Amino acid sequence: MSTTVGTDLIKPHGGQLLERSGPRPEGLDDLETVVLTARELSDLDMLASGALSPLQGFMGSEDYERVVEEMRLANGLAWALPVCLAVDEAPGGDEVALADESSRPLAVLEVEEVYSYDKEREAERCFRTTDENHPGVARLYRQKPQYLAGRVTVFERREPDFPELALDPAETRGAFAERGWKRVVGFQTRNPIHRAHEYLTKGALETVDGLLIHPLVGETKSDDVPAETRVECYRVLLERYYPADRVVIASFPAAMRYAGPREAIWHAICRKNYGCSHFIVGRDHAGVGDYYGTYDAQLVFDEFEPHELDIEPMFFEHAFYCRVCGQMATPKTCPHGGDDQLLAAGELPPVEFSRPEVAEVLIAAYQ
Ligand code: ADX
Repeated sequence: MSTTVGTDLIKPHGGQLLERSGPRPEGLDDLETVVLTARELSDLDMLASGALSPLQGFMGSEDYERVVEEMRLANGLAWALPVCLAVDEAPGGDEVALADESSRPLAVLEVEEVYSYDKEREAERCFRTTDENHPGVARLYRQKPQYLAGRVTVFERREPDFPELALDPAETRGAFAERGWKRVVGFQTRNPIHRAHEYLTKGALETVDGLLIHPLVGETKSDDVPAETRVECYRVLLERYYPADRVVIASFPAAMRYAGPREAIWHAICRKNYGCSHFIVGRDHAGVGDYYGTYDAQLVFDEFEPHELDIEPMFFEHAFYCRVCGQMATPKTCPHGGDDQLLAAGELPPVEFSRPEVAEVLIAAYQ
C-alpha cells in the first residue's frame, strides 16, 4: 500500500510511503514461525507504518553489502544502517510467520534469501568499533548467525506503549498538513528534555513552521531513562513551556542502536518519512561512551550530496547555560567557556539545567 499525504511536505525517502500492512492470510498455522527480538519487532512495526520507506522488508545481501560498505542501498539510494532479521538457519517453505516474544504471529515474510554475514565487519563499519562493551556491538554479537531476507506484510500491529503518541508517518504528515506546515523540524531524543534540548528545539523552531518532538520509545540500554518516565517529562514540559500550535509530539518506535554517525543519518531519513524537512543533530547524536567524536554525527552528513538525503540537518554545538551571559548558549555564541560547574554529579539539577517540573518527575521516578 502506498500513501500520499500533505503534498506540500517533503517527499518520503525514495518518493512514496510504502506501508507494509495487510490482511491476515489464510493458512498461517502451516507456516514455520520466527520469533523476533525487540529490535527486530521495532523494525517490523516501522516497515508496517512506512517509517522505513522505501524498504519493504528485511534486507537482502545486495542491499546489506552496499549499506555496510557505502551507506547506500543496492539502487544507490542513501541508507545508513542494516535492517536485518537474524535466524539460525534457512526456514522451510516460501513464507514464514514472524511472531512476538509470546509467539503471537504478527506478519508474514516472503522468503527471498538467507545469507551469512560477518559480525565483526558489520560492527567495524556500522559502529566504528568491534568492542563488545559497546551496547550496539554487544547486541549484534548476540544475534543469530544468518540473515533472512524478504518482503513483509504485517497483519497485526503491536499495541503501542503510548497510544496517544503513536502516530504513523501518514498521520504526522496529516497533522502537519492540517496545520499548514511545510517546513518541519524533527527532534530525536532518548532523554528527558533538559534546558539544552529545549534550547536546540526552540532555536530550530524559530526558523521553520513547526516542531516534531519525536522521542524514541523502542528498546534502549538499561541505564537510559525509561520511556514512561520520559513521556511524563515531555508532558509536563510541553504543557508549560512550548506553544501547543507549533509542536506535535509523537513516539518514534525504533530501538536505539547507539551507532552515532550512521544512526544520525538513519534517524534523519526516517524522520523525512514522517514528513520532516529538517532534523536536529547536536553533539554526540546517538552516541554512547566515548566511541565517537563530539561532532562525528554532523561530519558524516558530508558523505552525502544534499539532494541524496533531501532532509536538511540543523547542527548545534554543545549547549549549556552560561552564568555570565545569563542564558543558554553554545561555544558558537558565548565566549565564556561552558557550564560544567553546573552539572556536578549527585546534585539536584538546578533550574538552569532542567525545568523544575521535569526535575520533579525524574526525582519521583528515581526515589
Ligand atoms: S540521542 O541518543 O537521542 O542523540 P539525546 O536524547 O541526549 O540522545 O539527544 C537528542 C539530541 O540532542 C541529539 O541530536 C543530541 O546531539 C542533542 N543534544 C543533547 N544534549 C545536547 C547538548 N547539551 N548540546 C547540544 N546538543 C545536544
